[in-house]
Amino acid sequence: MTILSGKALLAGVIGHPVGHSLSPRLHGFWLNEHQIDGVYMPLAVTPDNFPEALRALPKMGFAGVNITVPHKVVALQTVDIIEPSAKKIGAVNTVIVGNEGRLIGANTDGYGFIENLKSGMNNSKIIGPVVVLGAGGAARAVIVSLLEEGVSEIRLLNRTRGRAEQLAQDISGHFNASIQVIDWEIRAQSLEGAGLLVNTTTLGMVGKPQLDIDLSALPKSAWVTDIVYAPLQTPLLKAAMQRGNPVVDGIGMLLHQARPGFERWFGKPVQVTTELRNFVLAGMG
Ligand code: ATR
Repeated sequence: MTILSGKALLAGVIGHPVGHSLSPRLHGFWLNEHQIDGVYMPLAVTPDNFPEALRALPKMGFAGVNITVPHKVVALQTVDIIEPSAKKIGAVNTVIVGNEGRLIGANTDGYGFIENLKSGMNNSKIIGPVVVLGAGGAARAVIVSLLEEGVSEIRLLNRTRGRAEQLAQDISGHFNASIQVIDWEIRAQSLEGAGLLVNTTTLGMVGKPQLDIDLSALPKSAWVTDIVYAPLQTPLLKAAMQRGNPVVDGIGMLLHQARPGFERWFGKPVQVTTELRNFVLAGMG
């Protein structure tokens, strides 16, 4: 049992619903590991109450919060200072309370994605072209992080083509790179010559339909990664492994995106270790 002092540092995650969130477990591990006088709590807040609840945090002495579904985009309009990471991705997942109670909005989802990928690939170079499936909020973070890592060619496919076009247009302004939008129907052909395949859609997640894609055109050397982590081994990752492609699973994105927030709120550097990974996975039930 953790006993807090009257000076305990406060942080948490705001979402709706928030009951499924693994973040309290994840941050709780680090708080315990470093014996920090602090707490990270789940904060269930409805969309109606979100802006008011966020603005109230500095008044209650919070060091900051994570923001999750469905508040990440609205948070962009509620914070006082938008950091470049949040501006480029168009959403906020980490809020830090700065001087005079100002709310600083950052986004660490892209950082989490790329750190997980690089660590899974043993820091070998990411070779394009990269095929990205999906054009939702997660795809935005993934693409920004790939471009920042120096990837110069992205093939973007989404069931709703217009969303992919919008995303490509929004992001191209920030980078000098090619994002080619390809029809969802020809996803199997789009894999030809690719160096990396990323699924950012919700397909393959527990309770959702599977991702239906024929991998035969994908080079055997290409890496495959999935941001879905429930189940950890998605049908896509299983199919890729069966044909010999190297894969990186998605739980590490969650673990790595949490680090910058923790370090800024609680002032202690933290690491993603196998022990942490197993502890968080055990919380998935
Ligand atoms: P997030 O912000 O987590 O990325 P999202 O914005 O709801 O979530 O995006 C979910 C992604 O999964 C989208 O790319 C979505 O495609 P659409 O833009 O066409 O909706 C994709 N997706 C969800 N269900 C799908 C399905 N049955 N077939 C193909 N793509 C699907």
